[in-house]
Amino acid sequence: MAINRAELVEKILHLKSQRKAIILTHNYQLGEVQDIADFVGDSLELSQKAAQTDAEVIVFCGVHFMAETASILCPDKTVLLPDLNAGCPLADMISAESLRRRKRELPEASVVCYINSTAEVKAESDICCTSANGVNVVESLDAEVIIFVPDQYLGHYVSTKTNKKMSLWPGFCPTHARIQRHDITRLKLDYPQAKVLVHPECRPEVIALADEVLSTSGMCRFAQQTEAEDIIVGTEIGIIYRLRKENPGKKFLPVSEQAVCPTMKLINLEEIVWSLEEMANEVKVPEEIRVRAKVAVDRMLEVV
Ligand code: 13P
Repeated sequence: MAINRAELVEKILHLKSQRKAIILTHNYQLGEVQDIADFVGDSLELSQKAAQTDAEVIVFCGVHFMAETASILCPDKTVLLPDLNAGCPLADMISAESLRRRKRELPEASVVCYINSTAEVKAESDICCTSANGVNVVESLDAEVIIFVPDQYLGHYVSTKTNKKMSLWPGFCPTHARIQRHDITRLKLDYPQAKVLVHPECRPEVIALADEVLSTSGMCRFAQQTEAEDIIVGTEIGIIYRLRKENPGKKFLPVSEQAVCPTMKLINLEEIVWSLEEMANEVKVPEEIRVRAKVAVDRMLEVV
């Protein structure tokens, strides 16, 4: 017999205290998963929370690289990803071997990797960054030449804010690539006063139309502070749930209903119950890679 949502939530709460677990959830997750989280945030906040928690188990409701980052930071904790199919296509657009080749071509460059990358790629990088701190991270480096991987659009956006010479890896987020310029111009016809927020993973021509270019939690903070009542949101549509919940008086208009990350939607309440019951699926980064990857993540956490 199927159990209802209230019973699932009760089971999760019970298992969570039994396992001494914390549930960390990304802003793109399903509403039901956001609602049972101990913390909902962007990639930077989630890695900061993972680094600080004294829980014994971290249930990561996000995608694989996020759970890996928690494992890099907290080797003594058990990090669980309730669905192992929750990958990030952008993170898979570069391998450690191809990055090593690029480094040989540009030996004077420093390597900045977007947090949406595998632990192996982080281990080959000098420093990591997120959508919230890319400019600060690049500016913190002495090198004049930067290899930026794997997101060309975030890299391009950062390059417009710094004088460094940036070599961009041609990766992209397929979900943000679906957001088009005309989606925004059409909405602006109906809502001319609306503020336009876009994520820096969007294409440059989309970013050019934005009032603000922000990480997902940056958008949540902006929405709470702005006087604007209509807000056009250019990122994955899972964030709309949180924006509406926190700002019932404001109108949030997703730029595109097509902007859905399928892997972010894999995790649900049933899977979280199963994950906590079975202590599955554990994400653990091999020690040799973890130690090198941690240098890049720690350096980022020192910059912000
Ligand atoms: P944020 O760090 O802005 O939440 O972005 C995460 C992400 O994966 C965007 O696609």
